[in-house]
Amino acid sequence: MELSGKHITLGVTGGIAAYKAAELVRLLIKQEATVQVAMTDAATHFITPVTFQALSGNPVFTDQWDARVANNMAHIDLSRKADVLLVAPASADFLAKLANGLADDLLSTLALARDCPLLVAPAMNLQMWEKPATQRNIARLHDDSIAILGPASGDQACGENGLGRMIEAEEIVAEVIAHFQPKLLRGKKVLLTAGPTFEAIDPVRGITNLSSGKMGFAVARAAQEAGAQVTLVCGPVCQPTPRGVKRIDVTSALEMHAAVLQCAATQDVFIGVAAVADYRPKNAAEHKIKKDGSAIAPIELVLNPDILADVAALPTPPFCVGFAAESRNLEEYAQNKRAAKNIPLIVGNLIQHGFGGDDNTLILFDNDGRLALAPAPKLELARQLVARIAHLLENR
Ligand code: PMT
Repeated sequence: MELSGKHITLGVTGGIAAYKAAELVRLLIKQEATVQVAMTDAATHFITPVTFQALSGNPVFTDQWDARVANNMAHIDLSRKADVLLVAPASADFLAKLANGLADDLLSTLALARDCPLLVAPAMNLQMWEKPATQRNIARLHDDSIAILGPASGDQACGENGLGRMIEAEEIVAEVIAHFQPKLLRGKKVLLTAGPTFEAIDPVRGITNLSSGKMGFAVARAAQEAGAQVTLVCGPVCQPTPRGVKRIDVTSALEMHAAVLQCAATQDVFIGVAAVADYRPKNAAEHKIKKDGSAIAPIELVLNPDILADVAALPTPPFCVGFAAESRNLEEYAQNKRAAKNIPLIVGNLIQHGFGGDDNTLILFDNDGRLALAPAPKLELARQLVARIAHLLENR
């Protein structure tokens, strides 16, 4: 599990999004974190401490003078145990206190007394979020190295629509998990491709393949968690975009080629995870091809440009990583592709392992030889791949 052994102190402040904090506790516990909840007085008007106690399995603290803590220093006790202090939802009032170092209740006092990182997920009405005072406070929190998660835009409890919603509990958990990953690619720009391409035959039919995008999205998330600025160019897939990743949707190999080549020269790393169609119909029919009982006219195919090879051939190319999915002779074919495309690293996977599923098995081929990664979920493998790329980049 992603958060085993981690102690998270969760601060809940007063806002309607407090009810989502209950789901957040459940998801953190599911990842095997130990969760200790501290609530402001205002938060207890929206949701009771009993709910959090039942979900976390730990007593909930609301009072600075809680006699259950032997030395009467709940603020010190709760912060010293924590690997991270997470405040979700964080109200406008609480952010203002944080920005000014106020400590007039348990949660604000423990935030000031903490010696662990602080992550906050703002939640408030659109007007409150947009006020210069709130924006000044947010800027100051940025300067103080406090991580601001969100807010999101959308429908608000007050009936308005806009920025100010707390990001979803699953997204907060992903941010907490990312927080604990080593920042091996901090400051690097990483460009990736993912998913299949779709090469039109007519307006409704085309040539494509079974790539789900899962492997490419996992690598994008792992690179983002490692501190990189990530751009993901993807074919038609149904995958949620990892938070913080810039996503560019394309359909065909030609579109993918154009989107990649437009920004490849400014990147530090390019990773081609997409299963790009090698060929496309020379002329897509303008209208749906009708079945008229006669023999099917053959579809003339032309070769698509090789995106990875073109990036690798740039005058100062980024560090290029290819993927190879094979049904047999994996090592030989993968090595041949690495040589043909003139790239430093290629990642081999068997079609029966790689396509579609949640898990995979990878073999990495580079100048140092081969490195086999044991079967694991795609995200776990993606993190190992990112670590290898960071190592090779450093020793280039
Ligand atoms: O999406 P999933 O369901 O999770 O599946 C993941 C995957 C199996 C698709 C992925 O792990 C993978 O192996 N992708 C590469 C598939 C492949 O075999 O590609 P290829 O042999 O056609 O190309 C080799 C490399 O050149 C790849 O990095 C590819 O992105 C790139 N290429 C290929 C053709 C082309 N015209 N342009 C390219 O950039």
